[in-house]
Amino acid sequence: MTLFFHSLLLSLSLFLSSVPKFAVASGQLRKGYYSETCPEAEDVVRQVMRTAMAREARHAASVMRLQFHDCFVNGCDGSILLDDTPGMLGEKLALSNINSLRSFEVVDAIKEALELRCPGVVSCADIIIMASRDAVALSGGPTWDVKLGREDSLFASQADADRIMPSPRANASFLLSLFDQYNLSATDLVALSGSHSIGDGRCFSIVFRLYNQSGSGRPDPHLDPEFRAKLDTLCPRGGDGNVTGGLDATPARFDNQYFRDLVRLRGFLNSDQTLFSDDERTREVVRRYAEDERAFFDAFAQGMVKMGDIYFYRKGEIRKNCRIVNGRSAGI
Ligand code: HEM
Repeated sequence: MTLFFHSLLLSLSLFLSSVPKFAVASGQLRKGYYSETCPEAEDVVRQVMRTAMAREARHAASVMRLQFHDCFVNGCDGSILLDDTPGMLGEKLALSNINSLRSFEVVDAIKEALELRCPGVVSCADIIIMASRDAVALSGGPTWDVKLGREDSLFASQADADRIMPSPRANASFLLSLFDQYNLSATDLVALSGSHSIGDGRCFSIVFRLYNQSGSGRPDPHLDPEFRAKLDTLCPRGGDGNVTGGLDATPARFDNQYFRDLVRLRGFLNSDQTLFSDDERTREVVRRYAEDERAFFDAFAQGMVKMGDIYFYRKGEIRKNCRIVNGRSAGI
């Protein structure tokens, strides 16, 4: 009988893992989860974020991006933070992440500060959620209440990250269906893409649209000529792919400039510009946020909470070190 139930559970979990639409099992997440076990947790996270941003403003963007890359790959379970081991290729070296995701040391600093105060209590997955909220608020954006209580995963999968994370070449209709698999609407997609109000992108991510959009041998026609000339100078053909430029005209400030840029055909990433230029389902939302920053802030906060709800309960743990599963030493 027990065997029967085990195989039933196994086939159910195999079935669920092949279902594209994510079942959100976020019921056990709640506000104030650490109010008794680590009441100072949220203050500690904010303080470390503040210090990190004083050192380098871009940490805000780089930390906040971790929420997207963590939550979309098997839920918000801190898997993005695990280093590779000889037996496990983690997510850090996946195509969208390698030479691109950064600020892992800021998460480490937050974890160390929390382990000093309340050892073994606050998960790395929750640290990403709190730190992302603070990153936005400390950059001039909105704030919101976070739901907490996630556990950290015991594994990470490079193959899953490669399969799921979208490329900067993606267009609006592809992104709409990707986000729909997580029950995120067109409004959520546009609002969450407004995260590109802060931070930088590499020339590597845009040279195709400057010189050979869709194999045409020509630049993306949806690029303002003056802006394209600037990007051509930043990212010459055959130049250094690791040179970076702001994702909008005010990359250190969380504001609605990103949407104003898209309306003027001055989006940095193809995936961003396409939200205005290619699809009417997203175009109207872009236009609205270009005109109404408050509306963008509200939708962004809601979108981040919804994205944080992508979580399925599996046996996890509270990692002591966000890079390593408990009981293993580094590199093993
Ligand atoms: C809609 C699909 C998305 C695509 C295709 C996409 C793609 C990208 C790419 C290509 C970069 C530049 C990477 C590089 O050149 O190294 C980037 C940067 C960034 N992304 Fe996204 N992104 C998307 C959605 C999101 C979401 C939902 C968030 C967070 C809520 C986010 C947050 C960021 C941030 C903050 C940066 C700048 C990071 C830094 O300066 O270190 N992105 N994204």
